[in-house]
Amino acid sequence: MKKFTTNLVSWLDERFDLTPVRNLLQHKKVPAHKYSFWYYLGGVTLFLFFIQLVTGILLLLYYRPGEDSAYESVRFIVTEVKFGWLIRNVHSWSANLLVFFAFLHMFSVFFSKSYKKPRELTWVTGFIILVFSLAFGFSGYLLPWNELAFFATKVGTDIVGILPVVGEKLKVILRGGEDVTGATLSRFFGIHVAILPAIFTFFLVLHLLFIQRQGMHEPEHFNNLPEEKKKYISFFPDFALRDALLWLIVFDILIFLALYFPWELGNKADPFSAAPEGIRPEWYFMFMFQTLKFLPAHIVFIDGELFGVLVFGIAGLVWMLIPFIKIKERPNWKIQPITFIGIVVVVFIVLMTILGYLL
Ligand code: HEM
Repeated sequence: MKKFTTNLVSWLDERFDLTPVRNLLQHKKVPAHKYSFWYYLGGVTLFLFFIQLVTGILLLLYYRPGEDSAYESVRFIVTEVKFGWLIRNVHSWSANLLVFFAFLHMFSVFFSKSYKKPRELTWVTGFIILVFSLAFGFSGYLLPWNELAFFATKVGTDIVGILPVVGEKLKVILRGGEDVTGATLSRFFGIHVAILPAIFTFFLVLHLLFIQRQGMHEPEHFNNLPEEKKKYISFFPDFALRDALLWLIVFDILIFLALYFPWELGNKADPFSAAPEGIRPEWYFMFMFQTLKFLPAHIVFIDGELFGVLVFGIAGLVWMLIPFIKIKERPNWKIQPITFIGIVVVVFIVLMTILGYLL
């Protein structure tokens, strides 16, 4: 095997000159310090994205979009297709873990201030792929065409409709008509399996290229060390092997969840029935959903929900542009203003999510 690999490498080397790849593998280093653990979260998110691609393609072999076929094809996948139930469960659980790890990764780079110069665009591209991960979740939710998904999509697209000027138009474009129908399902299917993967991959490649070009961020305490005290590990094989070990652990957790907590299919959507009790969005939209529920019907002259949607939109934009916003540092404050903002954001998201499930 070793001989075969060596021969293959020299065969490729003769034709393509692999010096840049060899240099990269031999010289790329990762700083080693007490916060190094946070360097692994982006990799875990990437691993889960690969799982989504593979399981998504497998599901596509049997899934048939359409009002009369979507629900039936998913039922066929989980009851008749060999290991179909496993693939569907892994796809659903992995989607949730991906969003969870992307959030964790985002807050870890926020609190370690890795987004600062020169990594502004790494942050911006990261934020864009997080938004697209949420869009993946939203569009995928409808695909089994079950009751819960149908009404949650109705509520979700209604929220888009309250936007001023463009809202109604956008809602009709998203739904493919006035109501959530088979046309909405076709649209969401196209968005989920073609449009989003293409855009997501484009920004993900940019994100990874930026990281590759700049190397890993070195925190302040590490930077202040004298050169001889700074410790590094090689990217290949040391960091890559640790990455692989963590991926294996996450994979075990994923399989455990898929085996013991199967994803429910529920009842087929019936557009003429009344909305069932307890229609809720996915957990990662819960903080926004609950905040909108708390708002009064009118705030000053504006509709309460519209006010909430606008504030979330502006807040998201500011968060995306945070590397470009100058926030004064206070050397004698225990907690810096920017760290305080981050803590408020995390506490708000966690609190609203919990309230969303309790109330
Ligand atoms: C959703 C999918 C995402 C994937 C697959 C991904 C992937 C990665 C990977 C593999 C790394 C290098 C290892 C690491 O530092 O963890 C990284 C670094 C980074 N990511 Fe992401 N990321 C994602 C989302 C985000 C988000 C949402 C943000 C912020 C809004 C972000 C901002 C950054 C920054 C600033 C770095 C550089 C960190 C450093 O140099 O230490 N990423 N990402």
